[in-house]
Amino acid sequence: MATINAKITAVGGYVPDYILTNAELETMVDTNDEWITTRTGIKERRILKGEGKGVSDMAVPVIQQLLEKSNSQPEEIDLVIFSTATPDYLFPASACIAAKKTNLVNAFGFDLLAACSSFLYALSTGAKYIQSGMYKKVIVIGADKMSSIIDYTDRATCIIFGDGAGGVLLEPTQDRTGLIDEWHRVDGVGEEFLLMPAGGSKHPASLETINARQHFAKQDGKNVFKYAVTNMANATLKVMERNGLTGDSLDWLVPHQANKRIIDYTAEQANLSKEKVMLNIQKYGNTTSATIPLCLWDYEKQLKKGDNLVLTAFGGGFTWGASYVKWAYDPN
Ligand code: COA
Repeated sequence: MATINAKITAVGGYVPDYILTNAELETMVDTNDEWITTRTGIKERRILKGEGKGVSDMAVPVIQQLLEKSNSQPEEIDLVIFSTATPDYLFPASACIAAKKTNLVNAFGFDLLAACSSFLYALSTGAKYIQSGMYKKVIVIGADKMSSIIDYTDRATCIIFGDGAGGVLLEPTQDRTGLIDEWHRVDGVGEEFLLMPAGGSKHPASLETINARQHFAKQDGKNVFKYAVTNMANATLKVMERNGLTGDSLDWLVPHQANKRIIDYTAEQANLSKEKVMLNIQKYGNTTSATIPLCLWDYEKQLKKGDNLVLTAFGGGFTWGASYVKWAYDPN
């Protein structure tokens, strides 16, 4: 029997309307546009405003786009994997809420958390259900409302993050397109360098945790940077090497958008010209689980069937890795 691959057949994205510029951040914390631009490459980020709006509200339009673009009915969706670090609630899973709001009445689903690497891990997981022959239509969402856990008095973190959502539909193919290879890792080294200290089972919410501002993301940027830059480049090179990809034969690098300097270093190590690197950090900042699908969404019209893409990420945990995807369709 021919091998079944999981190919991406549609891409969707959503960013909120509100634009938080570097100029506005200058009025909130002691920072400036020049510092933020040269250290990170970020000019602005989107923020989800509105009382009671959660991450699932950004995923709903993404799921609707995926259904529409692929001519699928909601009841045909078998599985929805919702990767996020900022779910609507600790439980129930945001996958349940998004499925209800979009009428995915026959789907099973769950949330997946691996910080900024979540989308890559969810893509890997979703692909396995297709490759096994079990399911025909799997939605993989990457979405985060980072503004819900950012301390807008902490200049080292508030300048980096933004809100957004993206996603893909996976379907079976017997072509050699779709997810071809992957290399992923976790370690516990990142625990002390990037975390939200309270609100989990170790330090449940209390007056003390709130007063100590422990329900916000804390980051030791210098250390995170050091690990991110080497691990993202190494994962990319590993996947390129074992699939015989070079700077010439690789068409696109789709890097997690955490810091432009990390992206530039990875591209340089892979011997890739600037035009082959997807970049939207300047307008969205780091949207955590959403960066990679939002890149695919922004660049979809430039992708051609057969293009070689390497998707790579690094995030809290630490978590990191790279996936090799052969693009399955031409622009409409
Ligand atoms: N505006 C102005 N100055 C700032 C600032 C800001 N927003 N944030 C920090 N600074 C200051 C620091 O206080 C420090 O001042 P000092 O030298 O007087 O102590 C100086 O700038 C340098 O700080 P440092 O933290 O060393 O800067 P950096 O070059 O490492 O850049 C980050 C900071 C956060 C941009 C960078 O470390 C980074 O991108 N890290 C990785 C982030 C990441 O990838 N996170 C997500 C993982 S997926």
